[in-house]
Amino acid sequence: MTAIIGINAYHSDSAACLVVDGKLVAAAEEERFRRIKHWAGFPSEAIHYCLAEAGIRLGDVDYVAINQDAGANIWRKVAYMVTRRPDLSMVLDRIRNKRERAGVADELKRAFHGETLKAEVRHVEHHLAHLASAYLVSPFEEDSVAISVDGFGDFASAAWGVGKGSRIEVEDRVYFPHSLGIFYMALTQYLGFPSWGDEYKVMGLAPYGQPNFLKELRNVVHLQNDGTFRLNLDFFRHHLEKSEDEWENGEPRVKSLFSRSLEELLGPARKRNDELTQRHRDLARSIQAMYEEAFFHLLNRLHERHGLETLTLAGGCAMNSVANGKVYRNTPFKKLYVQSAAGDAGGAIGAAYAVWSELGGGERFHMEHAYWGPQYDDAYIAKLLESEKIAVGEAGCSVRCVSDEGDLVRETADAISQGLVVGWFQGRMEWGPRALGNRSILADPRRSDMKDILNLKIKRRESFRPFAPSIQREYVGEWFETEDEVPFMMQVYQIRSERRPDIPAVAHVDGSGRLQTVHRHSNPRYWRLIECFRGLTGVPILLNTSFNENEPVVCRPEEALDCFLRTKMDVLVLGNWIVRRIKL
Ligand SMILES: [Fe+2]
Repeated sequence: MTAIIGINAYHSDSAACLVVDGKLVAAAEEERFRRIKHWAGFPSEAIHYCLAEAGIRLGDVDYVAINQDAGANIWRKVAYMVTRRPDLSMVLDRIRNKRERAGVADELKRAFHGETLKAEVRHVEHHLAHLASAYLVSPFEEDSVAISVDGFGDFASAAWGVGKGSRIEVEDRVYFPHSLGIFYMALTQYLGFPSWGDEYKVMGLAPYGQPNFLKELRNVVHLQNDGTFRLNLDFFRHHLEKSEDEWENGEPRVKSLFSRSLEELLGPARKRNDELTQRHRDLARSIQAMYEEAFFHLLNRLHERHGLETLTLAGGCAMNSVANGKVYRNTPFKKLYVQSAAGDAGGAIGAAYAVWSELGGGERFHMEHAYWGPQYDDAYIAKLLESEKIAVGEAGCSVRCVSDEGDLVRETADAISQGLVVGWFQGRMEWGPRALGNRSILADPRRSDMKDILNLKIKRRESFRPFAPSIQREYVGEWFETEDEVPFMMQVYQIRSERRPDIPAVAHVDGSGRLQTVHRHSNPRYWRLIECFRGLTGVPILLNTSFNENEPVVCRPEEALDCFLRTKMDVLVLGNWIVRRIKL
């Protein structure tokens, strides 16, 4: 047996996975255990979970693979330091990070209280791990172009190459300080969204505007003849001072990335609580348009160069599901795979599979679903509901166990079709940021008021952000303009115009939807629930949003029950148990 622990540490979305003899056994993000969004320290809880899932001990692990290699691209770093003479604190910060990351073995020993550690620690360059996180678990047997587009990692912001069999040949990279991830993040801050991961908000706002600032932004990002891009550094600050890889109590912090010159170019930056005007919507659309221009410029050049039809995408920017959804329209690529944890968390899987490949690899593994996290059986849930009997009773809820799956999905589908909001907690937690039917809040997509109901009852998020549809795989072509597998909600496609009025709660203002295709074999219970809803309504789609309220997605039944009780959700389905608020 060869056991490899893969980790993403000291980056946002710290995470761990376990690969045994080339097969993924478990994977989870540390934030779910620590209950701090995007937690960025060492993923000791996630490692504990992965080993417990497999029933092995730290001493049974052969390799620990981390998606960071301080020695990678070292000459580029040295050359940059010598020629640019950046702020001394930035240099010291980088040395500090390097020291912290050097201590993987020490961290493990600390987290496992002196258990023996015989594993060899292997460092995998950040972008090789990103590339591997998609290509090496993709279904593609043919050669594929593999691309990583990101903020920064190991002094590079993007990398690409060709995946062949169980190997990836890296062709080239874009190095610090040029970065599309930094461009998007800086402009997100400029629009008044300062938190880590707020890029989604710009992506959601974009369809409400026009790309009126694209001309100005072409002066911010310069496309190069070889397919790459460069930033006009006059508009940025990240190259002048330390600004990345900071975290406080595990929470990632980002410093202000844009310069005064950007405000001279585009007008004053929006403050966090300022009203959103049409100018801001136009800026959001322009930012997304500029990103797409650079992204497709790179993709098209790589297609020209390699003549391959399949593409795998990874890196923080591969979370841009709107751009991903245009790959078939804007490039000649015919097949696309984006893994569920496309961002830094996914680097844990990438690092593990890069090491497995170094060891010779074997038969390729295909990650076709995202259910690699913890699960809890009915006995655990029954015990919890018993111990919380008073709180549940005080909230005016009934509790029943429905052990027949047919009855369970019928009752749940019926509740959804009546406009109730259902917390749906089943099986193993999803790997990656999206809830995919195991830690989801579900609602009726046919109701035009459902977005407001959800925001009022639970989510309280910006009204311009859309909710997503889960659709049975068999019906994608009938409801969407693009027939494709999208198991991880990583592509946005246009909903057929004649169908849009049927599902207003999941159709964005431009008629698009960030769909999840639900496959009968990979999530049978969730598929069956939607099948039941289709039987009742003729619609093979549910509105699916993550099970949380301003916190990481729930992991344990305790968190699901707590979230249910403190919000105004109507029904909670915890495994085979149905907790229902009784209307007075
Ligand atoms: Fe990254």
